[in-house]
Amino acid sequence: MENQGCSCAPINEEDLYPKIEEIINQHRGNQNALIMVLHKAQNLFGYLPGRVQEMVSLGLGVPLSEVYGVATFYAFFSMVPKGRHEIKVCLGTACYVRGGQKIVEYLEKGLGVRVGDTTKDRRFSLNEVRCVGACSLAPAVLVNDDVYAQVDPAKVDEILVKYE
Ligand code: FES
Repeated sequence: MENQGCSCAPINEEDLYPKIEEIINQHRGNQNALIMVLHKAQNLFGYLPGRVQEMVSLGLGVPLSEVYGVATFYAFFSMVPKGRHEIKVCLGTACYVRGGQKIVEYLEKGLGVRVGDTTKDRRFSLNEVRCVGACSLAPAVLVNDDVYAQVDPAKVDEILVKYE
C-alpha cells in the first residue's frame, strides 16, 4: 500500500477561519444561533477547534463553558478532526485470531496514522471495534456502514480505492 494518508494536500484550516468569521458575524450577539453556528463550523472544519469555540463564544455572547458544554453534549459535534470515511477494524476474538491485528498494522503503516487518528488529508479515520456480528467471515473491516469480510492486506487496498 502506498502511504495513502499523505498523498493528498492537507486541508489548510487557516483558509476556513474567514468563512466561520463571516457566519458568526451574520448572527452576532444572537445566543439562540449557537447550535446552528456550531453545526456550520462542524461542517466546515470537520470538527470544532478550540479557536473556533472561542470565536463563537465572543461573537454570539455565549460563555465559552456553554459553547464547550453544547459541543461535547451532542454526538454530532466532534472535538477532534474526523476523516470523511471511518475505517473500523474488528478486533473481537474471531477476527483477532484470524489476522485482525495484522490489518490494523498494515493500515497504520499505509495511512501513516495510529488507531484513533485521522489522515492529514482527512480522507480516513482509523479505529478498532469489538465484534460486528460477522465472526464466521472473520476478519471483518467496516468502512463507514459497509462491512467487508475475510479481509487481508491485498483486499484492504482494493477496498480503500472506493472511498475518495
Ligand atoms: S469478532 Fe469480528 S465480527 Fe465477531
